[in-house]
Amino acid sequence: MTETLIVYGTRYGATTEACAEIQKILEKEYDQHVEIWDLENYRACPDLSDFDNVIIASGVKYGKWTKNAQKYLSNDFGDKKVAVFISSAYAGESELYEHAYENYLVKVIEENPDLKPVAMAAFGGKIPKDELPKFAKGPKKFVPKIASGQILTRLHENQYDNRDWDKIKEWAHEVGKLFSS
Ligand SMILES: Cc1cc2nc3c(=O)[nH]c(=O)nc-3n(C[C@H](O)[C@H](O)[C@H](O)COP(=O)(O)O)c2cc1C
Repeated sequence: MTETLIVYGTRYGATTEACAEIQKILEKEYDQHVEIWDLENYRACPDLSDFDNVIIASGVKYGKWTKNAQKYLSNDFGDKKVAVFISSAYAGESELYEHAYENYLVKVIEENPDLKPVAMAAFGGKIPKDELPKFAKGPKKFVPKIASGQILTRLHENQYDNRDWDKIKEWAHEVGKLFSS
């Protein structure tokens, strides 16, 4: 059976939920054995050598991955297949998606020249209600000039969860196929 490790960094749990959905699809539909690990406990993380494939994920806060998820990217993955995703409120807004993909994903991956992911994705995020004011008033440099007014108003008005579960599931299938080939 193919062994897959999903490791993630989270602050509010949104990334955890996306990882759990992806795990379910990989196990049920792609016959993988999947272990899932919160990198808050970095030291006890399962040994990479036990796995064929790895998914690395992080939530984004003020433009940053969690420290441990970012650190994990610098591992030597050898010939393992690696897929990477982020959970980011900006990535869930069409006007800000490109900004999030480039700045929070492409640039972070490029800091690790040996890392060549077979798949990458930027998903929307979920902001706990009591964190919304902090998000809305965050340091200006993390609020992209493009459309920032709209996104903040919209999040306040309607919702604080802009994850697209169909997109997350679709990506899980894409990764399932890549990991099985
Ligand atoms: C204080 C704060 C700052 C945030 N900063 C950003 C940001 O710079 N860019 C972004 O896209 N999302 C930002 N977000 C939204 C998070 O990306 C979103 O809540 C994400 O789903 C968090 O994932 P996690 O729960 O796994 O940590 C911020 C949220 C909070 C509460």
